[in-house]
Amino acid sequence: MADSGSSEGIHLDAFNIFDPEVQQCPHMYYALMREETAAYETRAMGGSLFLITRQEDVAEAALNHAHFSSRFDIGSMDGDSEYSRRLKKLYEDEGGYEPVGTMLTVDPPVHTRYRRLVAQAFTPRAIANMEPVVRELASELMDNLIEITSDGVSVDFVEAFAIPLPVRAIAKALNVPDDRLGDFKRWSDASVAGIGTNISIEERLGAQREVIEFQKYFADQLEERRSEPQDDILTALVNATVEKDTSGVDSQFEGVPLNVSEMLSIIQQILVAGNQTTTHLLGEMFRLLAENPNEWESLRSHPERGGDVAEEALRLAAPTQGMFRIATEDMTMGSKFIPAGSRMVLMYAAANRDPDVWTNPDAFEPGRVNKAAHLSFGRGPHFCVGAGLARLETRIVAEEMSRKLQTIEVTNAEHLRYQPSFVVRGLERLDVTVTPKEVVGRG
Ligand code: HEM
Repeated sequence: MADSGSSEGIHLDAFNIFDPEVQQCPHMYYALMREETAAYETRAMGGSLFLITRQEDVAEAALNHAHFSSRFDIGSMDGDSEYSRRLKKLYEDEGGYEPVGTMLTVDPPVHTRYRRLVAQAFTPRAIANMEPVVRELASELMDNLIEITSDGVSVDFVEAFAIPLPVRAIAKALNVPDDRLGDFKRWSDASVAGIGTNISIEERLGAQREVIEFQKYFADQLEERRSEPQDDILTALVNATVEKDTSGVDSQFEGVPLNVSEMLSIIQQILVAGNQTTTHLLGEMFRLLAENPNEWESLRSHPERGGDVAEEALRLAAPTQGMFRIATEDMTMGSKFIPAGSRMVLMYAAANRDPDVWTNPDAFEPGRVNKAAHLSFGRGPHFCVGAGLARLETRIVAEEMSRKLQTIEVTNAEHLRYQPSFVVRGLERLDVTVTPKEVVGRG
């Protein structure tokens, strides 16, 4: 079973991080790694890759940016590999903006400035203001789902619901018009192409061509916001500056606004980090509810449990399985020596099922008390900027399922396939049927 953490009959020798079959069911390998070592060494990307899987270690490493740096910058154009050279030429030929590291791939104090600036655009109030928009989207997509499956025909929940909801929510936040939604989704996918998977140089460059298209669109939009400010995230980014006395930010940046390349990098990260992750979480939440009829029954009669359901789905099905770090100096974890410069992955998905922290860790139990201790949004300076939005979207979807649906069923349960990435994990498709809640007490 794809979600099982049982490692009976499995050996770590069979573990190949890029093997799509391993990625169908990685949890049994994670269980062995957690038991065996503080840092599991595997070969990938031309060298050693150390996977950190225990909850305590992952949480500590995420807080310790001095030793676990985020400057991993995969696929940058600085190197002299064939890919780097061709990437540089592509950006020159197509007039792209040279990619700069902003949040995900820089460390404090540079990182601190970007986070402060982005926080001005992503305020809790701005997120809370999105509730009516997200609810309307969820309600409309749910009604569609009910209609399509009304005569028992199953529909792919990923395609029909889990993709459009976050794409349209973020598009609204960035004020992207409806007729550009298709492009917006394409750009978002291009931005994550190749992360945690083995795709060819040609495929990577093809994706980068689409990223340049994205850059040009948003560079124009940002220019427009300068002359015609609106009440949106783009305008907030254009206007954001850090003032004096903001702790942790280098004083040379006081009052300095973001340049276009930096703003584009931030917008791209919002797409990259926010779309597929939320899509994957919504698919997994549906699957988990369908596989656990008692929990579905409980949610159905208590919509207010939507937040708990969302949180436990996050723990169990962490869409961001792991995130890279670089060792800044020689270190030892447990008995494992990790030389300076090594690549590591903080395996959030493995940490979330650590039996030292959770009883019955592979079970879906929205009622458990410590479910929010999961690391699905990371921890420390890189803690997810969009956690509030992702939680809002997932809770609202759970609530709308509860309010509108009577039964839910997965019809391809025997053939579920996960996308073959060890970084962003989620279902390729999820065929479902649903029936509407019976209306009682009328007439
Ligand atoms: C279920 C949905 C989501 C999951 C599981 C998720 C997960 C994560 C994780 C684990 C990190 C930390 C990376 C690290 O440790 O280096 C992160 C960072 C980030 N997330 Fe999310 N995310 C989600 C949704 C979103 C959304 C909706 C947005 C934006 C609207 C977003 C924007 C970001 C950004 C910009 C960062 C980089 C922060 C930094 O490095 O300082 N995420 N996310």
